[in-house]
Formats: sequence, structure tokens, C-alpha cells
Amino acid sequence: MFQHVQPYAGDPILSLMEKFQKDERDNKVNLGIGLYYNEHSIVPQFNAIKTVALEVGKNVDKAKLYLPMSGLKSYADATQALLLGNDSKSRAEKRAVTIQTLGGSGALKIGADFLKENFPTSKVWVSQPTWENHITIFQGAGFETAEYPYFDPETNGVAFEKMLETLKSIPENDVVLLHPCCHNPTGADLVPEQWDQVIEVLIKGKLIPFLDIAYQGFAEDLEKDAYLIRALDKVGAQFVLSNSFSKIFSLYGERVGGLTVVSEDAVTADNVFGRLKANVRRVYSSPPTTGAVLVESVLNNDSLRADWESELKGMAERIAKMRTVLRDELVKRLPNKNFDYLVKQRGMFSYTGLTSEQADKLRTEHAVYILLSGRMCVAGLNEKNVYYVADAIAKVLA
Ligand code: LMR
Repeated sequence: MFQHVQPYAGDPILSLMEKFQKDERDNKVNLGIGLYYNEHSIVPQFNAIKTVALEVGKNVDKAKLYLPMSGLKSYADATQALLLGNDSKSRAEKRAVTIQTLGGSGALKIGADFLKENFPTSKVWVSQPTWENHITIFQGAGFETAEYPYFDPETNGVAFEKMLETLKSIPENDVVLLHPCCHNPTGADLVPEQWDQVIEVLIKGKLIPFLDIAYQGFAEDLEKDAYLIRALDKVGAQFVLSNSFSKIFSLYGERVGGLTVVSEDAVTADNVFGRLKANVRRVYSSPPTTGAVLVESVLNNDSLRADWESELKGMAERIAKMRTVLRDELVKRLPNKNFDYLVKQRGMFSYTGLTSEQADKLRTEHAVYILLSGRMCVAGLNEKNVYYVADAIAKVLA
């Protein structure tokens, strides 16, 4: 019956994680998947989440009923406020709708299905490169995907002029996927003035912006990292926005995410909300409860929220520090090479420029795991492993 089923080649990120877990070497370092590790190589839980989890854990007698198709309302509202801001125009005009989703991937899937249903002939444009799963999800929803130039290997930054030129040539109603901050996989971000130019092109070209954000707070802060979202909202633009709380609440396994759509008017927004619910129903009916309760309890409580924000800030600062230490250590070992890109790129990831052979050698010979694309998760570095990692990279590059 199933003999024609083709073998799965594996996923470039998740399958590498499986290899890492099986690796028995004591000195192994995981810089592959996007996980935030602390200085003790532990993926830490936020104090605020621990506090709420203890409370939630007391409710053992209560059965867990189905959530609505759109998820927990208090969670969706808090998510929307965090993303769009308290003085959001679309929120005030009831043009924005948000549903709870199964992580960022679930949001992308529901968003992709919703767009395919309503714009069946559109193409989806992603940055070159992008998170591999973006392409998989949109193609899985039946879309043809295309790439706009993004990363410039010469400068290790954004190839902005080329990006803009391509965006200008995209036909009306095509979808453009953008990363508001901490670009995955490169860590190379646009500055606000560049986003303003992109917004102009998106609006003039009647393109559909699809924003995907998973690292709000990991570059500068919760406000500044949401610049693109807030700026689009301010000019009254319509857009789709997926978000993940996996990293910024350290709730990877709870699958906490959201999908927000900003429409032209409140009546349209209501119709959109209905279609999102219909799409959820046909994929997984309704989302799970625990993660949403944890997140909304933190976001809706002033003191827990302040505690979460301050821990998140600490994480961002630790990542930034590790970027500097790794840059300095690499320069000591290879003085003729320039590693400044490490401190210019932002968020969890850096594109190292290592070839797939070099990345593979790092893993096989030194037990240091980075993706074959050369993406390194800088959030896996700490004072104990960074010198070893610098040695290993220097040996592979020498
Ligand atoms: C990553 O890019 O490493 C993370 O977003 C995890 C994933 O699902 O790929």
C-alpha cells in the first residue's frame, strides 16, 4: 500500500537538532536551531512564566474545555496590543483581528491558506535567503514562491537597492514576506528609513505585506523592533502579520503564536476573522490552552510583565555581548579577516559565510553545530564555550 512513499530527506534545522541530541561528545555546542541558552548552557524559563505556571498548576480539578476556533480572547487581545502598540490606528478603528495559533508556523500556515483562498493566482515573494520553512509552508499551501534579493555577501548586510528595485517590479496583489527584525537566517536588518521606502513601494504597488516576527525584543527593545509593523499601521496600510512567542517567552514546546490581519474597515475585518476561524477549523479546530494562559497572564499583569521585559532585555544584552566576544576572539586568531559582521547583525542569528563543507567540518571535527547554510545561533554562545568555538571556527577557516 505505501511502497511508493518517498523517504524524507529531513529538515535543515530540526534534523540537525536530532543529530545534536544523539551526539555523545562532551564538548558539543548547539549553534544550530534558534534556542536561547543562558550562560550555563541551559534554555531558561522566565521567572514570570514560572510564577504563573505554579498558579495554573493548582487548577488540576478543572477539565480543559475547547477554546474557540480563534483561541483565548484575552491572549489574542494582548498579542495584538504588543505587536501593533497601544496607540494603534487599526486597533482603534477595529480593523485589526488576531487569532491564537500553533506557534509562528501555525500562523504562517493559516495565513497562507487564507491568502490562497482569496488570492489564488498571486505569487509569494520571500527574501533571498529566508527561513527555509517559509518556502515550504507557502508552497505547501499551493503558492508559487519567488525571491527578492536581500543579503549582500560583500558587506554581510542588506542588498537594499537591489531589494527595492525588485519590490518595485512585483505585480499587484502578490504577497511579500518581510521580517520586521532579527532577520532569520542572516541577522541583517533594515533601518527605519529603509523600511519607510519599502512601505512606499508596497503601497504604491498594491502588494500584500506578510510580516513574520519571532524575535521582538531581541534586537533593541519591544517598541523599536516593531518599527515596520507600527509604521505600516500608521499609514493605514492593510497587512498580514504572524508572530511567535516561542523564543521571547521561552515556551517553544507550548506552540504559542498569533495571526493578525489588518483590513480596510471594521466590516471587512469581521469577515476576515470568520475566514481565519474557518481555516483553523479545517486544520486543527482550535488551539491548546496552557501556553496561551501563561502568556496572557504575564502580558496582562503589570508587575509580571515588567519582570518579563527586564529578563528579555537581559537576554538581548547577553547575545550582543557574545557577538562582541566572538568577534574579538576570531580577530585574535585570524587577524587578516574581518568579523565585524558579527556585531552588526542582530538577534539570535548571524550568517557566517561558512560554506556547507566548512559547517559540516565544524560539526564532525569539533562538535560545533551550525546550519549548513552557514547560519549560526549566537544565542547558544556563553563565556564557557565561546573560546572553544572561536578556536574551532578559526581552524576550519584557516
Ligand atoms: C529556527 O529558525 O531555528 C527556529 O525558528 C526553529 C525552527 O522551527 O526552525
